[in-house]
Amino acid sequence: MARVMLLIPSASYRAPDFMEAAARLGVEVVVGTDRRSPLEGGSHGGLATFDFVDLERGANEIEAYATLHPVDTIVAVDDGGTLLAARAARRLELPHNPVSAVEATRNKSLLRAKMQAAGLPSPAWLVALVSEAPEAVAVSVRERVGYPVVLKPLALSASRGVIRADDEAEFVRAFRRVVSILSTEEALAECGAEHADRVLIEGYIPGIEVSLEGLLAQGHLRTLAIFDKPDPLVGPFFEETIYVTPSRLPVEQQRLIEETAERACFALGLRDGPVHVEIRLDGRQAYVVDVAARSIGGLCARTLQFGTGMSLEELLLRHATGLDVPSFERDSQAAGVMMLPIPRAGTLRAVEGVAEAESVPLIESVTVSIPIGGRVVPLPEGTEYLGFVFARGGSPAEVEAALRAAHEALVFVIE
Ligand SMILES: Nc1ncnc2c1ncn2[C@@H]1O[C@H](COP(=O)(O)OP(=O)(O)O)[C@@H](O)[C@H]1O
Ligand SMILES: [Mg+2]
Repeated sequence: MARVMLLIPSASYRAPDFMEAAARLGVEVVVGTDRRSPLEGGSHGGLATFDFVDLERGANEIEAYATLHPVDTIVAVDDGGTLLAARAARRLELPHNPVSAVEATRNKSLLRAKMQAAGLPSPAWLVALVSEAPEAVAVSVRERVGYPVVLKPLALSASRGVIRADDEAEFVRAFRRVVSILSTEEALAECGAEHADRVLIEGYIPGIEVSLEGLLAQGHLRTLAIFDKPDPLVGPFFEETIYVTPSRLPVEQQRLIEETAERACFALGLRDGPVHVEIRLDGRQAYVVDVAARSIGGLCARTLQFGTGMSLEELLLRHATGLDVPSFERDSQAAGVMMLPIPRAGTLRAVEGVAEAESVPLIESVTVSIPIGGRVVPLPEGTEYLGFVFARGGSPAEVEAALRAAHEALVFVIE
């Protein structure tokens, strides 16, 4: 039986779902996690800690570990692990995506450059150093990009530090805010020092946004699901809320999304494993916003079931270990998730209305993921959600309405 190394950053929500899938399949798993994990402390049993920040060192540690306890494949579970997985797999001569391809998914300016070079629709963009005077950058942005724009750190995720600016005055304020986010130790650890000294500024892409969940095999992209994001994502901050699948877009637009996602993967050189691609549709143009060499984040994968009740995690583990995948077809029901946004900063004192929210028709479950007494920080500085609401059945519109009704029933007491 194959032995899988799962690289799971301590901030990930997904360890239990992957472990459950592995247990169901009888696949032996070792979890590699980072030093910030509460489970830290060398390697014991099915757990080992590696350096997720210094990737050279992390790859050395994985190599040393695998010499004693061989693994057949390395799977990255969230953004924090994709680069380490590619580098360690290269070292161990295991199948993997080219390191340079994964690097471009973890560096937003590199992603932009590759999309543009491949002739994919791209906004104008430039990169500024955090040390530059914001007023001067604001002028270059007017001349070279044109307002409105979106500012983003090169290597954070979950919309952290992503801010829209409509004119020079807004730009100056937004720039200072991104710079201050990048100066935190936490951002430095996530981003790496080599990415924390600059900011990407790109033209604002209007239109609607979708995400495509896909699986690459030998460079061919198979769509597992397209999610509509029915809440307007117009800024100034880009909080993810509702995802619903199947998409309600016309078939031709869904084709365009799939084609664009496949071209993006090809342009990057990604060949194998899960991808999560975010695309904006503006009229007939599809713009790639973001490509990640991992599956959908948070607990959102719980919306997906394939064949007769196979989870996304099981499907991915089957793919990674060369086991037969009995079905790539999503079950026929509509499904959706709402990531519960943090309305303001403070301490979470209570969550009310959970039973009421769970009793809304089509609602499967409500998961609150921040402990009572925990600190909550909204975007653009924050990294977490209050929790997740899941719905299934009926039409996509009914799923969306159920998620909204459940959200209405929830009261978060934040002091
Ligand atoms: N150029 C853009 N135009 C419009 N919206 C954007 C643009 N870039 C990012 N966004 C919005 O911000 C969100 C987060 O940006 P993204 O590049 O995906 O960063 P992250 O890695 O944090 O997910 C996107 O999902 C999208 O809604
Ligand atoms: Mg994104």
